[in-house]
Amino acid sequence: MVKGVRRYYHRRVVLVGGTGAGMLEDVDPGLAVDGFAALAADQLHIWEGSLDRPAPEIRRLRALLASDELARAERFRFERDRARYIAGRGQLRLLLGHYLRRPPREVHFEYGDHEKPFVADPGLWFNLSHSGPVAIFAVTSIGEVGIDVELDDAGFASERIAEYFFSSGEVATLRGLPAELQARAFLTCWTRKEAFIKARGDGLSLALDDFDVTLAPGQPVALTRTAWSGSEPKEWSLSDLSNTEAGYIAAVAMRRTRPFELRRGTLRTTDHETLSEQEKL
Ligand SMILES: CC(C)(COP(=O)(O)OP(=O)(O)OC[C@H]1O[C@@H](n2cnc3c(N)ncnc32)[C@H](O)[C@@H]1OP(=O)(O)O)[C@@H](O)C(=O)NCCC(=O)NCCS
Repeated sequence: MVKGVRRYYHRRVVLVGGTGAGMLEDVDPGLAVDGFAALAADQLHIWEGSLDRPAPEIRRLRALLASDELARAERFRFERDRARYIAGRGQLRLLLGHYLRRPPREVHFEYGDHEKPFVADPGLWFNLSHSGPVAIFAVTSIGEVGIDVELDDAGFASERIAEYFFSSGEVATLRGLPAELQARAFLTCWTRKEAFIKARGDGLSLALDDFDVTLAPGQPVALTRTAWSGSEPKEWSLSDLSNTEAGYIAAVAMRRTRPFELRRGTLRTTDHETLSEQEKL
């Protein structure tokens, strides 16, 4: 390999993942996404990533952010929260740059009434959620999408906050379950409701008891009722993305009019500089 090329490769951070054919996109000098070849018209792509990245990667991801994102990063009180925010936005930009075939720095975010970020480019919807060190991203050209992840934290789930947040039907289903299943079912319900709210971009303006989702183990994953429309539940698909080995519960909601394929990939960085040092040993 030519020396200069070798150095170039050693300095890049590569995000790899997915089950599709591998592809290396030179979206940015030093950072790249390697994953699903393209977003087919009938696909929803889900990426899981970590927000706890080594400091050199955080520096590279920080260099992708826009001035408003940098200003927001500065407002975090704790360094760990700042680094996680940078890692989330940086990876989001890498992914969107990959799909839009544009340098990540040139991805321009706009914001809805309740702060939901979107891109003006037609036909691309995305959403992001994070909990502790875990981040998950949804990208699709099918329709509005919302995603939510929560660490599988039984302490949080066991408090009686379902009675405050959920509809009476959801609370009745939850409390009818064996006690040992209720913590997980609580988070299942929470993430499904949150994914739906996030897909619509309504934020807290949507009354949480104005719609129902399923939550019991074995029940089909679905939005079953909205108070404002008898037909709306049929327009939405809800999918469970929980990964108990990785310690999280998650769901994605998408407005769709046709069948679709959900594909999942894991983002991980390979710092070739580090790798080549290890290879030398
Ligand atoms: C802000 C909100 C969208 C989600 O908040 P959250 O669960 O704390 O955060 P998540 O990690 O899931 O999502 C945050 C990301 O969603 C995106 N987002 C922000 N506002 C959004 C909105 N109105 N709609 C959709 N996505 C939004 C952003 O990308 C944000 O991350 P970033 O700013 O780091 O880029 C909103 O729904 C909220 O405040 N919910 C309150 C929680 C609640 O009462 N839930 C009840 C469920 S039963």
